[in-house]
Amino acid sequence: KRPIIIDTDPGIDDAVALAFALFSEELEVKLITTVAGNVSCPQVTENTLKLLTFFDKEVLVAKGANQPLVQPQIDASEIHGDSGLAGFEWKEYNRQLLTEVPAAIAIHQAIQQSSEPVTLLALAPLTNIALWLRLFEEDKEKIAELVIMGGATGRGNSGNFSEFNFHADPEAAEIVLNSQLPITLLPLEIGNKARLTSETIKQVKKAGKTGKMLSQLFEHYRGGDIVTGLSMYDSTTLVYLLAPHLVETTPCQMAIELAGQVTRGASSVTFIEESSCQLVTDIQVEEFQQWFLQQVSQCG
Ligand code: BDR
Ligand code: CA
Repeated sequence: KRPIIIDTDPGIDDAVALAFALFSEELEVKLITTVAGNVSCPQVTENTLKLLTFFDKEVLVAKGANQPLVQPQIDASEIHGDSGLAGFEWKEYNRQLLTEVPAAIAIHQAIQQSSEPVTLLALAPLTNIALWLRLFEEDKEKIAELVIMGGATGRGNSGNFSEFNFHADPEAAEIVLNSQLPITLLPLEIGNKARLTSETIKQVKKAGKTGKMLSQLFEHYRGGDIVTGLSMYDSTTLVYLLAPHLVETTPCQMAIELAGQVTRGASSVTFIEESSCQLVTDIQVEEFQQWFLQQVSQCG
């Protein structure tokens, strides 16, 4: 199994991505770190523990930054609800999974303990990953790949030109994108192209205990507007990891606007022949719907 560390801010689409990773036959989730994003860090940490308890999975959780590196936090509670995971009645959850060790240090420890190179999966503002890079640059050689949901090549979903994860902590995004790590970016456009159709959402509801829980969350995602379908941004990273034949990638450089008055957090993409970074530029939409349903049905 491929060792993986997930940095996340659940978040309804984060919940889907976590489910797919935790139930995958190919991935071994070594650590989950949490960061302020969709809602506050204490809240997304609680949400992560609730999800792990629901899935009956024991994975170490480490709490990370409750503020971006420079700017104040912007959240996405209007999309995910005040709790970040609106719509489901969560039961008691297992607090024992939470370590006292802060996220950046826990990432370092998990990497050092792994006998194999580790894949990092970033589903949230990149604050923790940037802090870890600043503290433990030497860990870079033990990273197989860094897969990020972030960035937009056209218009954004948080500010006119920026995608939420990069808009929420542009300095962190810039540090991470300059790290020379092997990076794969799943931008906003991929999640928008592969929106779950209302037909798929109906099927999700019937796909076991996890499907039922997710469909209840979906009813609250974006205030329940499913007419045009639902973008499951974070879960597109799992398509790249588990079903890469469904996506196309192109080498690129991505720079982040840090100074712009109205474009701060925007990502500027340049396609080049060779790069340590690649952008997912296309996804097979119908196959994605099938794949999505199959994944949900494997999640108990
Ligand atoms: C990203 O923003 C968050 O609201 C989602 O969880 C996802 O990580 C999409 O722009
Ligand atoms: Ca997220």
